[in-house]
Amino acid sequence: MNKPFGNADEKLSAYVTRVYAPEDAVLAEIRARSVAAGLPDIQVAALDALHLEVLARATGARRAVEVGTLGGYSGVALLRGMGPKGELDTVELSPHHADVARESFRRAGVADRVRIHVGAAATVLPTLAPRGPFDLVFVDADKEGYPAYLAWAADNLRPGGIVLLDNAFLFGHLPAAAEGERAKEIRAMQSVHEALARGGKFRATVLPTGEGLAFGVRV
Ligand SMILES: C[S@@+](CC[C@H](N)C(=O)[O-])C[C@H]1O[C@@H](n2cnc3c(N)ncnc32)[C@H](O)[C@@H]1O
Repeated sequence: MNKPFGNADEKLSAYVTRVYAPEDAVLAEIRARSVAAGLPDIQVAALDALHLEVLARATGARRAVEVGTLGGYSGVALLRGMGPKGELDTVELSPHHADVARESFRRAGVADRVRIHVGAAATVLPTLAPRGPFDLVFVDADKEGYPAYLAWAADNLRPGGIVLLDNAFLFGHLPAAAEGERAKEIRAMQSVHEALARGGKFRATVLPTGEGLAFGVRV
């Protein structure tokens, strides 16, 4: 699976993908090996990985935190964007996912610049605070946790640092009434957008990628 670019026109999406060639052999291998290892096929799309790389580069990020490692696909993109002096702390609940990611970082030649923290982000993030302040926080994990992860980012980003939250459209459910089986996720994601837009800690927008990438700059 490789989700399309944030434009419904498949020809446009195919054109951009062909020209920008966002997935090289290293990333393709991570995606294939992750799936072969039984990981869910839910890493960011290739163009979204390129967004992460370019945004990390544009903001001059050197120290980043990721919530939701999976097999290391987006982590490699962030590390590429931060360049040879960039360092990533990435948090993953599943030990098996973390093992796959460890191999991905080794193969990508970035293992010495990444620390994988195995555990629930709510538990791990407070332990990372002394390493901050950070330049970039990327959130791509359990949606109910997003409000707490955003609050942690607000407390641990430097002024001018950026927070990026994937799946900001909540698979199309974002504008729905908070009821039914997704009620908690909808409430959580709506509160994240309220906090980004009106909480006073970020100047923020949402990039209309296929999944929606919320993007805030710490003021
Ligand atoms: C969408 S995947 C991350 C994809 C990854 N960012 C990428 O694009 O390559 C979400 C990951 O978050 C992990 N996760 C879920 N809940 C978590 C939690 N509470 N704390 C840390 N990780 C969590 C899952 O095990 C899964 O590997």
